Amino acid sequence: MSKTNGARPPKAPPNASRAERSHTISNDALNAVCPYYTMYPLEFPLRVLTEYGNDGDWVIDPFCGRGTTNFAARLRRMPSVGIDSSPVAAALAQSKLASAEPDRVVASARAILKARKEPASFPAGDFWKHAYHERTLVQLCQLREALLGECSSPTRILLRAIVLGALHGPRPKGTPSYFSNQSPRTFAPKPNYAVKFWTARSMRPVDVDVLSIIKARADRYLAQPPPDVDGKVLLGDSRVADTFRDLPRARFVVTSPPYFGMRTYLPDQWLRLWFLGGPDYVEYRQPEGQLEHSGVDHFAAGMGRVWRNVATHSTKDARLIIRYGGIHDRAAEPMDVLKRSLVDSGWKMKTAKAVPDSDRGRRQVVQFGAKPKKAITEHDVYCQRA
Ligand SMILES: C[S@@+](CC[C@H](N)C(=O)[O-])C[C@H]1O[C@@H](n2cnc3c(N)ncnc32)[C@H](O)[C@@H]1O
Repeated sequence: MSKTNGARPPKAPPNASRAERSHTISNDALNAVCPYYTMYPLEFPLRVLTEYGNDGDWVIDPFCGRGTTNFAARLRRMPSVGIDSSPVAAALAQSKLASAEPDRVVASARAILKARKEPASFPAGDFWKHAYHERTLVQLCQLREALLGECSSPTRILLRAIVLGALHGPRPKGTPSYFSNQSPRTFAPKPNYAVKFWTARSMRPVDVDVLSIIKARADRYLAQPPPDVDGKVLLGDSRVADTFRDLPRARFVVTSPPYFGMRTYLPDQWLRLWFLGGPDYVEYRQPEGQLEHSGVDHFAAGMGRVWRNVATHSTKDARLIIRYGGIHDRAAEPMDVLKRSLVDSGWKMKTAKAVPDSDRGRRQVVQFGAKPKKAITEHDVYCQRA
């Protein structure tokens, strides 16, 4: 699991080069506001943008996930665009471009909870009874409905990201830092398994102080904000040309598409999706807007459409830098899949570098399961406009 998941801002890996260390800065806490399945470490886009970019260059990430690239661009004072078809990703990435005083975020949560508005809908059933204390769940529903009603201000965008980050996670011995009963934090527990797990261990949900958790997190993540820069995040499908309409031309495309076979972005985030207005159960059907993994050709063709769209919306001297790898239940060689997607895409591949050992332990595949059989090498692939 990524070391940037938890409480502390990322640190340079022990064997990092001097250049990498100089990129490790102290106002990057916001990047860890909520973990995201298959996120890459902040150091990767930061290193690339520091090495090749200039203040003011536009950056785009068409598979932005939690907005790591956007946050790196912000730290480098470069404006950026993020696109993702997952509502969880888009909500988190939006927060990476927002600024608000921690006190204002807490005041906003306090006002919502103080209004004590009766939630219009309240999830019921075994899972919900075991996952959250009744009082906690009422407050989560109040926050959910208020934020679904209005979430355009930076204060509310940050409050929403903080709540998403605290929605599920481990139960510490001391003061709770998550709202839920014992759970993983990167992906949501599956209901039947979770109920069995909690029942077998007699684990009952704690009556947590929702506002104190929000305050502790707001103080941690928002105390030292990076400078404000221009940018926007779109909830959309990057295969569709129209998604890029009216976007500025980017000089850098830094991204990491789903690895072939990684299909569970939405079901694994079902609790966060519920908070964002989705159903109160897991939906397993192939979600619209996600790359389709039915076969290598189809998958590579979908990814190729994204590369063509970003080529059309980038400058002539633009660079495309892709981190790519694979997962174990697919026989396809990751670099073959990627190379296929780049054919006639408007981009020429220049180099591919294996991801250095210093990034081990933060590899995207590790986040998919506790014990990967054998590491599949990830590559950073550098391309130029054809
Ligand atoms: C490997 S993750 C990106 C993680 C990101 N680098 C980070 O650090 O958080 C790939 C992302 O691609 C998104 N995605 C898949 N198909 C997409 C599509 N057609 N258009 C836009 N986003 C898509 C997924 O929702 C997922 O968030």
